[in-house]
Amino acid sequence: MTDSNLGRAAAKKPFRRLLLTGAAGNLGKQVRGALADWADIVRVSDIAPLGEVASHEEAAIVDLADAGAVHALLEGVDAVVHLGGISVEAPFEDLLEANIRGLYNLYSSAHKQGVKRIVYASSNHAVGFHPVTSVVDIDAPLRPDGLYGVTKCFGEALSRYYFDRFGLETVCLRIGSSFEQPKSARMLVTYLSYRDLIELVRCSLFTNRVGHAIVYGVSNNRVSWVDNTKAAFLGFRPQDSSEPFEHLFAASAPDTRFDDPTQQYQGGPFVLAGPMEPQRNAAGEGQ
Ligand SMILES: NC(=O)c1ccc[n+]([C@@H]2O[C@H](COP(=O)([O-])OP(=O)(O)OC[C@H]3O[C@@H](n4cnc5c(N)ncnc54)[C@H](O)[C@@H]3O)[C@@H](O)[C@H]2O)c1
Repeated sequence: MTDSNLGRAAAKKPFRRLLLTGAAGNLGKQVRGALADWADIVRVSDIAPLGEVASHEEAAIVDLADAGAVHALLEGVDAVVHLGGISVEAPFEDLLEANIRGLYNLYSSAHKQGVKRIVYASSNHAVGFHPVTSVVDIDAPLRPDGLYGVTKCFGEALSRYYFDRFGLETVCLRIGSSFEQPKSARMLVTYLSYRDLIELVRCSLFTNRVGHAIVYGVSNNRVSWVDNTKAAFLGFRPQDSSEPFEHLFAASAPDTRFDDPTQQYQGGPFVLAGPMEPQRNAAGEGQ
């Protein structure tokens, strides 16, 4: 898809049908509206209720772990924005179904159904055991900070394989912390505004020939632990910053002098959250 295609969006939308998974989730709710401008039909899917369905939308309640249902979900789809799955540290059995089996089902079906591209919500937790004193680029070694992060590494590897073997393109978004506003001092560094998230998805869908790409999803924050130089071809230019929220955490800025792993590593509280037993609840701070 080229910029000139985008320019003609009023006459004809660039995509016939886009699929959004995780549409009932925190980020799905933000992205859902934007997709209306880019596709005639937006198929919204989740395991949870999807709310009111607009006239341009098709709604499908699907468990990603259900291979047959996922195969049907991908029918007639040009490209996918995959936000569905477990989004925090969780017991392995739960991660296995949603993030491992679910992702395999998605890629296997996408390939069989002729889908061209997937925008995959990976996470900063794929590299969360890098120290906060380092800056990681997209070639930094994977250092997941929990089993949730391990599932995101699986997704990055699976999508790499499906590109190398079948030419199915993926942009892996290593999303930092995308919320209304940062919830901690750490999130001042990892913050991704909703506006910048939507722009990142737009760049990932519309850049010509992405192959298999990885990009960090962070806003233009004053302090950063990541370097997107090698993903510059995506044209992602964040407009927002966590700076307006800095005063909220002035007294609790990360201090790496203390012997506290949640301060020393980029993954913050996630580095101590797992592995979790089946009966325990998911980790607290969020992404
Ligand atoms: N929000 C962030 O800051 C952040 C940071 C890093 C990565 N991510 C990733 O982005 C994606 C979206 O994050 P979010 O904050 O909206 O999370 P969320 O938990 O609010 O949304 C995830 C959605 O996936 C759905 N889901 C879970 N298991 C499913 C299954 N088996 N089948 C179908 N749907 C299922 C849930 O019902 C939920 O609506 C996730 O993949 C998450 O790992 C988010």
